[in-house]
Amino acid sequence: MQAFTITESDGVLTLVERDVEPNPRDTDDVLVRVEYSGVNYKDAMVASAHSRVRRVPSLVGGVDAAGVVEASGDVALPIGTRVAVHGGDLGVARDGGFAELVYAPRRFISPLPDRLSTRDAMIIGTAGVSAMASVLALEDHGLNHDGEVLVTGATGGVGSVAVTILAARGYRVVASTGSTDQTDWLLARGASRVIRRDDIADRLDRVLGTERWSGAVDCVGGATLNQVLRSLRYGGAVAASGLVASADLTSTVYPFITRGVALLGIDVVEAPAATRSRVWAALADTLSSALLEPLVDSVVDLAHLAHAIELLRDGKTRGRILVDPTAG
Ligand SMILES: NC(=O)c1ccc[n+]([C@@H]2O[C@H](COP(=O)([O-])OP(=O)(O)OC[C@H]3O[C@@H](n4cnc5c(N)ncnc54)[C@H](OP(=O)(O)O)[C@@H]3O)[C@@H](O)[C@H]2O)c1
Repeated sequence: MQAFTITESDGVLTLVERDVEPNPRDTDDVLVRVEYSGVNYKDAMVASAHSRVRRVPSLVGGVDAAGVVEASGDVALPIGTRVAVHGGDLGVARDGGFAELVYAPRRFISPLPDRLSTRDAMIIGTAGVSAMASVLALEDHGLNHDGEVLVTGATGGVGSVAVTILAARGYRVVASTGSTDQTDWLLARGASRVIRRDDIADRLDRVLGTERWSGAVDCVGGATLNQVLRSLRYGGAVAASGLVASADLTSTVYPFITRGVALLGIDVVEAPAATRSRVWAALADTLSSALLEPLVDSVVDLAHLAHAIELLRDGKTRGRILVDPTAG
């Protein structure tokens, strides 16, 4: 089969499409014929020299994929089932979804709700699953429709799907972005207003900022997450899933002890099956192809994947890059 391979040898990184054998790790791994994959921030981290995320010197990349079950020993997952595959060490320590076929353990495989095509599923991708998990965590915490919900990194994968989901669920969404040339695009995705990245810093001479956000979806981390915490309204919460700016977090305890705010950690990589099916069901209830298609930045084949990953790493993309392993 054709696959996009990432190999590091003597400090030299090679990203290339080539013919490889599908590689099961365990006898009960399920084989999926990939119709679409997508490019996530983590893929860019894996496809970097001296990557701290990649755990093997050589593998097929791709932390997620969607397609059709080709071979399975699990009666609950018969041949022909449409599925999304994501999580665990897929595309990090074992061969991933940038290929025509992928083997994965049952626990990383979610049957797709009828309303979502495999293309819809990869426009969503791991980034969108994280966005929906973030919104559900905020709602479980008591998010209501009063006030505004902030989304940081709004033109990225997590951010753009979060803006779309929150708007579709009736919230007033404020999109924070470093890409202000994409303001019209963000407004068209449902943001009620768009602010610059720097605008979330408020009253820096004080311990706390003005109470601005009822809730927030943050995939940026670092100083951004600190500013979000400082400006949550009393009892509000931020769902934190990412680290594109920094993995470090410096905050005082004041947002927690004087405004009762909550920092909700989001992980969809090791999420149990019940969480995954809840998230996919909510995605199917909330989104449609009409809402998802405008999130497609581009569709690339395996031969053009290295360039697409570079563009994402350089912040030159918006929404989601789809990968069609059979194109080209
Ligand atoms: N916890 C989980 O289970 C989980 C799942 C999926 C993803 N993630 C994490 O979520 C994060 C985002 O992933 P993604 O696939 O959405 O990435 P992405 O498509 O590259 O989007 C990230 C966005 O963040 C903004 N940004 C980039 N560099 C920045 C910087 N230095 N300072 C502030 N903002 C910056 C940009 O948006 P603007 O130009 O609009 O500002 C960019 O588009 C990553 O850290 C990823 O590992 C976690």
